[in-house]
Amino acid sequence: MRIGILTGGGDCPGLNAVIRAVVRKGVEAHGDELIGFRDGWRGVLEGSFTQLTVDSTRGILSRGGTILGSSRTNPFKRSDGVDRVRDGLRSNGLDGLIAIGGDDTLGAASRLFEAGVNVIGVPKTIDNDLGSTDVTFGFDTALHVATEAIDRLHTTAESHHRNLVVEVMGRDAGWIALHAGLAGGAHVILIPELPFDIDQVCSLIRRRHERGRYFAIVVVAEGATPREGTISLAAGEVDEFGHPRLGGIGHVLEREIEQRTGFETRATVLGHVQRGGTPTAFDRVLATRLGLAAIDAAHEGRWGTMASLRGTRIELVALADAVSEVRRVPVDEYERYGVLFG
Ligand code: F6P
Repeated sequence: MRIGILTGGGDCPGLNAVIRAVVRKGVEAHGDELIGFRDGWRGVLEGSFTQLTVDSTRGILSRGGTILGSSRTNPFKRSDGVDRVRDGLRSNGLDGLIAIGGDDTLGAASRLFEAGVNVIGVPKTIDNDLGSTDVTFGFDTALHVATEAIDRLHTTAESHHRNLVVEVMGRDAGWIALHAGLAGGAHVILIPELPFDIDQVCSLIRRRHERGRYFAIVVVAEGATPREGTISLAAGEVDEFGHPRLGGIGHVLEREIEQRTGFETRATVLGHVQRGGTPTAFDRVLATRLGLAAIDAAHEGRWGTMASLRGTRIELVALADAVSEVRRVPVDEYERYGVLFG
């Protein structure tokens, strides 16, 4: 077979491990030819690609990012997008595509499949917010980075008797904030799933002071919002999939907490450091398993599916189901941890 691979959306540690696994198994076990489209859907639309061989994919298992590049290009934002994807496959003699991405890239893949394009999905995102899979690779690495940062901020916060607000990524899901906050022993954790009450945040911090603890770590997800009518936030610009650029809530909290409590408060925005660099062993293994399953699925003609982790097993699920909703933190699960705050 001749198969194309692309990586779309925000990059994430483990993408190269998927590419390597697809190429190794495709070439060695199935005798396939593989080509890698550059920069996600943009490479398919513009006919920009490179041959992928066992040699050209050596040494990439532990490298973060993606050797193919990525973009947030949406084929459905172009009137001739679907035809250009079809032409891209036909003119290169491709039997199908393996699309590695999050909800946007796989959402486009699912719609392309409905339009007759042979495509198999592999879920990736540090946000861990895709449906039909228990976890996405990239999340574990982001979690480790965020937890290490919180540990480091803890000691300096305590030494200087300051509150430190740590803003983490995750878009509309609070998985990174909740898990890194729990792992790092944060005193307040704010997630997008439940608008926060700034008065409650400040009373938890005041209570710590009354108990002789003159510092607090507040972990806030970039998508967290204050309860309506309490604090006003500026709107960000929007990408091709309609997502606003998030970030800034950490600095809003820095100002609000300091003004309301009178205690010194500083913010740290972890940003893209959570997405870059070496994947953890867990992410490398998960990414490898998904890549092996995806190339096998192509040979079984299971187009329109996504390789996914269910329990300890890798299974194929319908792409359409996986992208039908964002998987968010259940509010009752978040509330269960409230006893650890303050
Ligand atoms: O989806 C991954 C992610 O890192 C989100 O957590 C974040 O909101 C977004 O991508 C940032 O995207 P960009 O790097 O394109 O600004």
